[in-house]
Amino acid sequence: KLRRGWVECRHDIDAFAPGLLSIYESLRPSEEHRSKQSQLIDSLTKSVSKEWSNAQLHLYGSCANSFGTSHSDVDVCLEIDIGTGSVVELLLRLAEILRADGFGDVEAITSARVPIVRMLDSGSGFSCDICINNLFAVANTKLLRDYAQIDGRLLQLASIVKHWAKLRGVNETYRGTLSSYAYVLMCISFLQLREPKILPCLQAMEPTYTMVVDDTECAYFDEVHLLPDFGAENEESIPELLWAFFHYWAFQHDYRKDVVSIRMGKIISKKEKNWTTRVGNDRHLMCIEDPFETGHDLGRVVDRQTIRIIREEFERAADILQHDDDPCDTLFEPY
Ligand code: GTP
Ligand code: MG
Repeated sequence: KLRRGWVECRHDIDAFAPGLLSIYESLRPSEEHRSKQSQLIDSLTKSVSKEWSNAQLHLYGSCANSFGTSHSDVDVCLEIDIGTGSVVELLLRLAEILRADGFGDVEAITSARVPIVRMLDSGSGFSCDICINNLFAVANTKLLRDYAQIDGRLLQLASIVKHWAKLRGVNETYRGTLSSYAYVLMCISFLQLREPKILPCLQAMEPTYTMVVDDTECAYFDEVHLLPDFGAENEESIPELLWAFFHYWAFQHDYRKDVVSIRMGKIISKKEKNWTTRVGNDRHLMCIEDPFETGHDLGRVVDRQTIRIIREEFERAADILQHDDDPCDTLFEPY
């Protein structure tokens, strides 16, 4: 098999555009879904502000970054001054309040890396995670949402990739594969690197938006309505881009040296990040830099065994899109 060098995709790949786009359409959350979601947020806001008048609720993750599907959970961040108290105490109190207000299946999960209250809203059937003061997630949610406004192909590509990853079992961080967030960052970086570019690097432009989180400045150009035709010179279709994405990750990405960075809009090196050896639990076998928490590698969960599984999945996907008669079925076959 050809590992490196230039490979072109099949000449008839555009024939799969309708199939792929209808999968994308079927994933879009419905109007009903959206309105149930805002009802849930409204009743949460009521419960929370009764107890803490100075608190604020933010939506983050895929229910707010536009990469959500009808299966996505609802991620909520409670911004609140904790004072001398602790996050755990606060979460336990929050769980009590929500139970008293009639929310079902409320559970405080305080031992996780990011402690949360998890609940199931019986009215809507949504699973909802509430964390405290995770404002980096609020900032990166806005960044992703702003990128999604620039060129519609990002939303299409990333939704299809997320769907593929879920069905193929490579979207499970607790098992050593990648988060949805990591896949979206990989798609943004990929579109920044197309020739001609489909996406700009918003963090390399004159900032029009700044949010300071834990002494870190999260700044970038957010007036994306001023870039309506940014990617227009590039006419690549969704099937071409999807194939090229998998082909890149299967055969072109240099796993020994490369770090994907949407912050820089290019591939940077493990050497300059000091990510060349294992540090604690972070193996840095597949490196995806967080745009704001730049010390944070979204690929840190990947180990020697799961990296093999992930790369085989990329190869399988590229291969199917290149050779299969009916790729829209085979590609998403549950593993
Ligand atoms: P789905 O729920 O699968 O549709 O996607 P999602 O985008 O909501 O992903 P997920 O539930 O995995 O993560 C929710 C949000 O948490 C992401 O969109 C990010 O904003 C944030 N997040 C997740 N993992 C990390 C991480 O490792 N570091 C940081 N800084 N933020 C993260
Ligand atoms: Mg989510």
